Amino acid sequence: MPAPSLTLPQPDPIIDQFVIDRDIVYLNHGSFGACPRAILDAQTAHRLQAERELVRFYVHDSWEKIDRSRNALAALVECQQRDLVFVHNATTGVATVLKNLDLNAGDELLVTDCEYQACLNNFQKTAEKHGASIKRVTMPWPIESEDHVIDAVMAGVTSKTKIALLSLITSSTGIRFPIEKLIPRLKEQGVETLLDAAHGPGCVPMDINAWGAAYTTGNAHKWLCAPKGAAFLHVREDLQDEFEPLVISNDAMQLETASEKSGRTPFNHAFDYAGTDDVSMYLTIADSIEWLSTAHPDGIEGVMERNRAVCLRARDLIRETIGVTPPVPDSMLGPLSTINLPVSSMTGQDLKRALLEDYRIQVPVWGTPSGSVAIRISVQVYNSIEQYEYLASALKEILSAS
Ligand SMILES: Cc1ncc(COP(=O)(O)O)c(C=O)c1O
Repeated sequence: MPAPSLTLPQPDPIIDQFVIDRDIVYLNHGSFGACPRAILDAQTAHRLQAERELVRFYVHDSWEKIDRSRNALAALVECQQRDLVFVHNATTGVATVLKNLDLNAGDELLVTDCEYQACLNNFQKTAEKHGASIKRVTMPWPIESEDHVIDAVMAGVTSKTKIALLSLITSSTGIRFPIEKLIPRLKEQGVETLLDAAHGPGCVPMDINAWGAAYTTGNAHKWLCAPKGAAFLHVREDLQDEFEPLVISNDAMQLETASEKSGRTPFNHAFDYAGTDDVSMYLTIADSIEWLSTAHPDGIEGVMERNRAVCLRARDLIRETIGVTPPVPDSMLGPLSTINLPVSSMTGQDLKRALLEDYRIQVPVWGTPSGSVAIRISVQVYNSIEQYEYLASALKEILSAS
């Protein structure tokens, strides 16, 4: 039960369009997103339409519907539709790229210690299989400037480096990496980038064409509020020859002919039918983009600006309440922010339990690269500044009692 001195704060009224429990202060959009009821209904409608005539759906109708989402997403992330395919999550996107790399014994795969664990695990397993090795660079914490990050990454490059894995926004620390500077710097050294934009569309503005990464994967099921299992993979045009999905399907041996028939590129066609599967989440991406565009008078751009502004305000009021300094410059933040906590006699687990059980706050508590305890706040349209004021008061009470 919440402490007697505190009553649960009101979220933004738009929460009525979601199905999120109202007895919880939900400040963790970053982990699994959240899907509004209208989008879940749209997904159900796509599923029902498929079930009415499954042959027509899988061999005909689904193409046009997948293209509707592909076009909407390509416009949002600034790339050509023909270079974009759907996968079920960013982890699958990373695994698909790794399957397609031509790796040899002695090659090095460059990662930072802020990359997401599942991606790191895929890198590790792939390296082991090919006799390659992982070069893991340590990110500074706190971070004073973009150059801090750029220097740390570039220091990891050697003549053996084959590819670099970089997050657009890191998972645990919520930092927006300066990828528009890093990708060309790496390319100059002959190193291609796999950009992990799991926190990408709907989170921060994206320009895949301008950034020029070899591969970009990202989730729609996080910040676009799409149903779970909706993610994408972008492969730069010069790398698409022979690039294969994880699952080889019916048309793999006659891809040119089959893709001509379905009116799409061979790359698109190879991914659009990968065995019988539920593709309703892909079809719903276009609906999610439409829905999120109406959540702010300035469309998705407005949503992203609003969320970032609330996040900065929230971070400032929390750190002022508990008396800590910001670990990252404002310019390197989107709608996620990690705040170090002055915890001495309490573990992160204890703090998480107290926040959830005593204050009904769902927020991740974890370690930072420097070994201290931190919380990571997320801000999506349904969050209000009052919720972070409540979090700040809760933290103050817990920390002063510990
Ligand atoms: C930076 C980053 N990369 C990859 C992932 C994996 O996303 P998914 O679980 O959808 O594969 C996450 C998930 O939170 C993430 O934060």
